[in-house]
Amino acid sequence: MRTHTCGELNEKFAGKEVVLCGWVHTKRSHGGLIFIDLRDRYGITQLIVNSKDSPSAYDQAHRVEKEFVIRVKGIVKKRMQPNPKLKTGNIEINCNEIEILSEAKQPLPIEIASELLASEDTRLKYRYLDLRRPEMQQNIILRHKLVKAIRDYLDSDGFIEIETPILAKSTPEGARDYLVPSRVHKGKFFALPQSPQIFKQLLMVSGFDKYFQIARCFRDEDLRADRQPEFTQLDLEISFADEEKVFEVIEGCIAHVMREVKKIDIKRPFPRISYEDAMNRFGSDKPDVRFDMELIDVTKCFEKTGFEIFKEIIRKGGCIKALVVDDKYKITKDQLKEITEIAKTFGAKGLIIARVEGKEIDSSIAKHLSASESSKLLKETKAKEGMLLLIVAADWRTACISLGEIRLKIAELLSLVKKESYCFLWVTDFPLFEYNIEEKKINSVHHPFTAPKDEDIAKMDKEPLKVRSRAYDIVLNGIELGGGSIRIHNKELQKKVFKILGLSEEQAKEKFGFLLEAFEYGAPPHGGIAIGIDRFAMLLADQKSIRQVIAFPKNKACQSLMDDAPSDVSEEQLKELGLKIEKS
Ligand code: AMO
Repeated sequence: MRTHTCGELNEKFAGKEVVLCGWVHTKRSHGGLIFIDLRDRYGITQLIVNSKDSPSAYDQAHRVEKEFVIRVKGIVKKRMQPNPKLKTGNIEINCNEIEILSEAKQPLPIEIASELLASEDTRLKYRYLDLRRPEMQQNIILRHKLVKAIRDYLDSDGFIEIETPILAKSTPEGARDYLVPSRVHKGKFFALPQSPQIFKQLLMVSGFDKYFQIARCFRDEDLRADRQPEFTQLDLEISFADEEKVFEVIEGCIAHVMREVKKIDIKRPFPRISYEDAMNRFGSDKPDVRFDMELIDVTKCFEKTGFEIFKEIIRKGGCIKALVVDDKYKITKDQLKEITEIAKTFGAKGLIIARVEGKEIDSSIAKHLSASESSKLLKETKAKEGMLLLIVAADWRTACISLGEIRLKIAELLSLVKKESYCFLWVTDFPLFEYNIEEKKINSVHHPFTAPKDEDIAKMDKEPLKVRSRAYDIVLNGIELGGGSIRIHNKELQKKVFKILGLSEEQAKEKFGFLLEAFEYGAPPHGGIAIGIDRFAMLLADQKSIRQVIAFPKNKACQSLMDDAPSDVSEEQLKELGLKIEKS
């Protein structure tokens, strides 16, 4: 139907007859001339229809409106006034035939050619139109290139892509499961996988020593800009591997992706930081290291303090942390108010704001501090004249996290982050367990199959919260891109972890019996990782939400507005499944 696309013609084709197909991007009339910008996924080509030269084509051109699908025949002509913004800007097509292939109802719910965006809900309801927009087309094409580069790299490194079930027994990854009722076995349910975790470990037992999958995962959790109920992971597992082997494969794969997709050579090896250091220095387990401004622990400046608030916090084992903000940035009073609110949202009782004036500090707490404490504080933080000190006193975690969030907010307010820079890093040495105050029980930080560090195994019985794990996260520009670990491959150690997590032997057997049984038949040491493809594509496309790189995402309320899912089902369907809906 077409000889060329709308993105490929240039002056070399001048004088040639061509046939193009596409959508009418814009149309302008000028006396006896009609100009049409014709669009397809390759680009835009300008058409000219002249009422004198081709009256019948002119009549058709008169009829077409925005987003009509047309097929045109014409001669390529060099343009008198080139348009440097278009790839095809040096030419135009002098049309002698126009065929309308399909009309588009007017007005369109979404303007394709305009920079003015419709609301996100309208865009999602008419997603097929939204996806016509060049920006969205680029995002989806970038995602394709990303996945292709991953597949090519891993294939050349000897990895095998294997699909695992979608209808399965779920793997615990910390979220709620999506359940699918069984018609054949009434009252029983499949769970959609939160990740292929157990299956990939079983594939290691089967001898597929290098496995990967571009895997769909399902998690019923609160949605955010970087979370969807169904999302895609690069899931990977390697036998006879330690942390170094996993890092080497992932760094190689990411370097290949960055070259193929962004034409960037990325520096390797990626920096590594322990969980404890990341929290202490950046107040986050996914530090954004594109800018400095590290947290400083100033607890020791106040060891002998008479200031009751600090004294009490130190007595309880808490700490005092500070951030120094350079005086060249003039932070406004309103901004300071906003920052104080952040500290409170993340659990701090308040934020102490101090400005350095000579050798003194100007702050509401200045009168409670001795001269020696103020001078120690200035020395420790290296804060100079006019600089701002932001201080939080709290338990270690709250102090780190609240100041970490403030650090990010300040970077945003003062535009400290360099654009188009990609800072990958590994976070290592996570704790194996954490205490969940609401549930009053110990949970896994990563998942229950993560191995403890050999040297910490002895602490498992008496001090489980002090045991460090062999888990790692990969972070890009302050966003958790992926996470993984070296796994437990020993049945007894795995049973011990289940016990610490409060699972009885029966419960462990009922939930994971098949994994424990598999470990009895020769399980190789193994480890792996999963990288969020949606998040990776979002960051490479410089977008703020993963909805921008998913063709048909759910909205924030977890609905698909286009096909109206989730929706009611018929009484018959429910009956067949043996289900009754309780009206709330
Ligand atoms: P984890 O749960 O850390 O690990 O997930 C790995 C990565 O998947 C992405 N991700 C998500 N992306 C979009 N929406 C979501 N709701 C969502 N949840 C997670 C993130 C995250 O870093 N089985 C382990 C991996 C392993 O141990 O090998 C797992 O799934 O980018």
